Amino acid sequence: MEWCDDRLLLLDQTRLPLEVSYISCSTAEEVAEAIKTMKVRGAPAIGAAAAYGLALGALRSQSSDRKTFLSEIEAAARILGATRPTAVNLFWALERMKGVFRDAGEAGVPELKQQLLEEARLILQEDIKMNQRMGKFGSQLVPEGARILTHCNAGALATGGYGTALGVIRAAHESGKEIQVFADETRPLLQGARLTAWELQQDNIPVTLITDNMAGYLMKKGMIDLAVVGADRITANGDVANKIGTYTVAVLCREHGIPFYVAAPFSTIDMNLEKGDDITIEEREGSEVTTVFGQQIAPQGIRVLNPAFDVTPNHLVTAIITDRGVLRPPYKDSLQKIFIDSGK
Ligand code: MRU
Repeated sequence: MEWCDDRLLLLDQTRLPLEVSYISCSTAEEVAEAIKTMKVRGAPAIGAAAAYGLALGALRSQSSDRKTFLSEIEAAARILGATRPTAVNLFWALERMKGVFRDAGEAGVPELKQQLLEEARLILQEDIKMNQRMGKFGSQLVPEGARILTHCNAGALATGGYGTALGVIRAAHESGKEIQVFADETRPLLQGARLTAWELQQDNIPVTLITDNMAGYLMKKGMIDLAVVGADRITANGDVANKIGTYTVAVLCREHGIPFYVAAPFSTIDMNLEKGDDITIEEREGSEVTTVFGQQIAPQGIRVLNPAFDVTPNHLVTAIITDRGVLRPPYKDSLQKIFIDSGK
């Protein structure tokens, strides 16, 4: 995503890999729509886009009265916050933006507008740096020649840049390790086939695409050394919400004695929720299951379930790779420690 001439440019992820095109958002409502329709997706990218969305809401405000201006920003935050419920980064970013006017003293409307835009810029830039730090920590867990399974897209596309799970993979590749990636296609919306495969191919990182139901076969054949995925929300006990199918990968890893790693920045950790069962799981349109690229593939009128995420219980997670270091179980303690250490 890029800020250009007072607009937010977003690479339209629904069109990849067939078309590389951008949409231009000039209002908070347009950004909210782009998040809802997954033109921009992936937990940290949703957070950064929402921050810019709020900045757009501020910049477009005609109000010179501080109180009216703030109530307009609150309204824009509500619209952006109602887009997707599972990724905590969305709410984290909106809270951080609201912190700007809580800390702004008597600043007037023009200054507040600039401060909000600056905060959105910082959120985006800091996310890239966090991913690079995570990459350095995580790459130490990747052995030379590793064959790595990943699910969904936790790459540059899903973040400000570099990626979380794909950041770990990128860093291992950049350090000269001869790694290979297996990408689950990730039905229903095919983030693995469309986005992860595209992203890794662009960077010349060896990648092989498989359908989701092939992962167990590959593990049984001894073809996978580790799995690494991203996260949409990690609760205080280390339970992990991520793209539907992640739990299946974790269970398969446990059965085959394969390490299962989760890579996520600080902004994905939700210390306000005790456990995974407390996370709201987004349910999306059934048409995402019954169609592929607009083509009907199931009988008309069939009953469908479409939960977009699942929760992997902490006991299946070998380690959580964060920008503050690699956390090991018990996560209740290791997660709390990084929050205490950072003074949050
Ligand atoms: O529905 P999506 O495509 O937004 O889901 C994305 C994922 O589940 C990613 O794995 C997660 O957001 C981590 S991205 C660094």
